[in-house]
Amino acid sequence: MLGDIKEILIEENILKNRVKELAAQLSEEYKGKNPLIICVLKGAVLFMSDLIQNMSIPLEIDFMATTSYGSGTKSSGEVRILKDLDKSVDNRDLIIVEDIVDSGLTLSYLIKIFNDRHTKSVKVCTLLDKPDRRSAEVKIDYIGFEVPDEFVVGYGLDYDEKYRNLPFIGILKEEIYSNE
Ligand code: IMP
Ligand code: MG
Repeated sequence: MLGDIKEILIEENILKNRVKELAAQLSEEYKGKNPLIICVLKGAVLFMSDLIQNMSIPLEIDFMATTSYGSGTKSSGEVRILKDLDKSVDNRDLIIVEDIVDSGLTLSYLIKIFNDRHTKSVKVCTLLDKPDRRSAEVKIDYIGFEVPDEFVVGYGLDYDEKYRNLPFIGILKEEIYSNE
């Protein structure tokens, strides 16, 4: 698995420290609000898990699954819900937790859905932001790291369901997906 990585972009300790900073910031800003943290499966699972363990306020979690990618590295442009939330978002303060915002299509679709439900507030927290490839305009409230226009894997992010368990963020060698 390590042989498929061209370069480590964000080391494990740097990741963990930044996640702690984000958790402290969220704990401060959501004091007394019992926010509903929405993990966008599957990529955001590791990030969300570390994030909430470092948050010091009462909160609840729920999961949502969307798809736009298939097995490739380019968005199909079409977003579908594979799994909706278990809980009602009525009058709740939502924090959408994402692994990466790339084209922004997934996020703009999710925000549109939540705007049609009666939430109190909706904010977005993403581990990674790849701004060069944005095609849908989205407002991101909390960003872990900005990354260059490269295909990255690890710490929850996959290529064809692999590499999610790497503890760092790495750039995948192009030869792994070049015959797509
Ligand atoms: P978007 O809709 O294009 O903003 O991105 C949607 C999803 O594509 C993200 O939540 C990721 O699961 C996936 N994705 C985008 N860029 C990458 C990448 O560099 N590595 C792994 N997954 C990615
Ligand atoms: Mg993915």
